[in-house]
Amino acid sequence: MDSHKKLLLANKAWVQDKLSAAPDFFEHLSHGQEPEYLWIGCADSRVPAEEITGTQPGQLFVHRNVANMVVHTDFNMLSVLQYAVQVLKVKHVIVCGHYNCGGVQNALSHKNLGLINKWLRHIKDVYRFHERELKIIENPRERFDRLVELNVIEQVRNLADTSIVQQSWHDEGAPVLHGWVYDIHTGLIKELVKMDKDTQLEDIYRYDIN
Ligand code: CO
Repeated sequence: MDSHKKLLLANKAWVQDKLSAAPDFFEHLSHGQEPEYLWIGCADSRVPAEEITGTQPGQLFVHRNVANMVVHTDFNMLSVLQYAVQVLKVKHVIVCGHYNCGGVQNALSHKNLGLINKWLRHIKDVYRFHERELKIIENPRERFDRLVELNVIEQVRNLADTSIVQQSWHDEGAPVLHGWVYDIHTGLIKELVKMDKDTQLEDIYRYDIN
């Protein structure tokens, strides 16, 4: 069997499964969505957002890209963020990175990978911001893990530095921003950072919000 056909068969089985547990499962979802969370995660196939958080369809609004980046000129991410915050009014925005992230690993190297150099450049910048801390970590594995964590923390800062989040903090007192890291070896998520409306931003990134 073609491997893609397995997916279509599995879909039919999944529908049956859901319907036998709750006959109105799809009917209910067809009325709209009210997810409480926006998830910004890595595209890595080993980090399936819904599965590792035990969430069901309708609960998680999801954006994934290489290395869970919040790039302030990325209209794709910004459109997702604006919709999630302003329209869906999510209560939490979660940036979830993961150890063994290929994007972060390549950013730590000197490989010339063409187009993706431009994307990974933002992670090299994270390295530069934290070079003093990273350089004294002798074990390459530990240095890699720490850059994964610092990258998550910087992306949460990037969220806080958007006028979208600052406006919503002013108007709604939400969302809370979370930085998490998923451990591929254990399946467990570790909390790294949390920012909310009371977080003091670096002055230069603060917008006049009315
Ligand atoms: Co990754």
